Amino acid sequence: MLDLKNQYLKIKNQIDAAIAEVIESSAFINGKQVSDFTEHLSDYLNVPYVIPCANGTDALQIALMALCLAPGDEVIVPAFTYAAPVEVIGLLGLVPVLVDVAPEHFNMLPQTLDRAYSPRTRAVIPVHLFGQCAAMGPIMEWAKKRRVYVVEDVAQSLGAKYKGERAGTVGDIGCTSFFPTKNLGCFGDGGAIMTKDARLAEKIKMIAQHGQREKYVHEVLGCNSRLDTLQAAILDVKLKYLDDYERARYRAAQRYTEDLQGIEGLICPVQESYTTHVFHQYTLRILNGRRDELKRRLAASGIPTMVYYPLPVHRQPAFCSLVRRAGSLEVSEQLCGEVLSLPMHTELTPQMQKIITAEICRFFSTPPQL
Ligand SMILES: Cc1ncc(COP(=O)(O)O)c(C=O)c1O
Repeated sequence: MLDLKNQYLKIKNQIDAAIAEVIESSAFINGKQVSDFTEHLSDYLNVPYVIPCANGTDALQIALMALCLAPGDEVIVPAFTYAAPVEVIGLLGLVPVLVDVAPEHFNMLPQTLDRAYSPRTRAVIPVHLFGQCAAMGPIMEWAKKRRVYVVEDVAQSLGAKYKGERAGTVGDIGCTSFFPTKNLGCFGDGGAIMTKDARLAEKIKMIAQHGQREKYVHEVLGCNSRLDTLQAAILDVKLKYLDDYERARYRAAQRYTEDLQGIEGLICPVQESYTTHVFHQYTLRILNGRRDELKRRLAASGIPTMVYYPLPVHRQPAFCSLVRRAGSLEVSEQLCGEVLSLPMHTELTPQMQKIITAEICRFFSTPPQL
């Protein structure tokens, strides 16, 4: 699915030098590379405040903690998503209110929000899934009218732009992950929180360091969530290549689509007009109940694929009793049986892709195996 080794080898000298510099300085926590990277990321995103933290899940938890919500308050979130946002909503004693997504782009739809709203609604988390932004304009308009916070989950879409603005900088707070497989990935765990709001930035920073502004004075209940210096040094090198990485992914996606579009029983990803697409995943929809059969066939030919995600949130044992459903979640249910993500990374060559698409074409030219 990925080739992190060859991505590293192309910039090995710079990465190795950056790591050596950290080891030499031995400032493993809060070294200068943490503030350098944070500053460069804030320039890249064009947002005044970036607060680094330990991972993307912490980023979401700290963001919600900064909003001072009370137990039982409600947070709207899509039913078709990675689990992290739902998990932190539950951990904070809040109620995840699930909305359905669009089959075309897998993201939440602004028109589902009215149905999800209640007097206890405090926040909405658009998860920009697979590399493109949800319709942030209408979501922001809706949220402003009802005084609801918008926390963007950008873990899969860092670098994407919603009408010219970077994902994560349109809402009140943006949260991202630097997990190794992400478009900007480190060599371990890492995350960041971004905001334009000075007051929220101050609070977020404080929460991420045990609720302290001043050492040993704990003003609020916080946690310990830091991006370590080694990870920051690696990310600072890789950030320079992020636009190149996104272009490589985009070209690879175009090549897949050229070969696969028009096949009956298969739907290629569609890019919406209001957003760019950074193709964290290239996710097909396989119709007529043939997804698992195709997955097995590709595996037999040595081609890995992944199902992101096999279960919607409300069918997960950990969450089903916590959530409130806003309407039918039938698209989310349906997608869980249809989606199949193909290998997608910066090192994918046209030759590798031809082998993959030829096998998919062969599969669809043969009748279903019963
Ligand atoms: C949409 C989304 N949100 C949050 C996260 C959590 O990030 P982390 O693994 O760094 O905690 C992920 C990670 O896979 C993700 O895909």
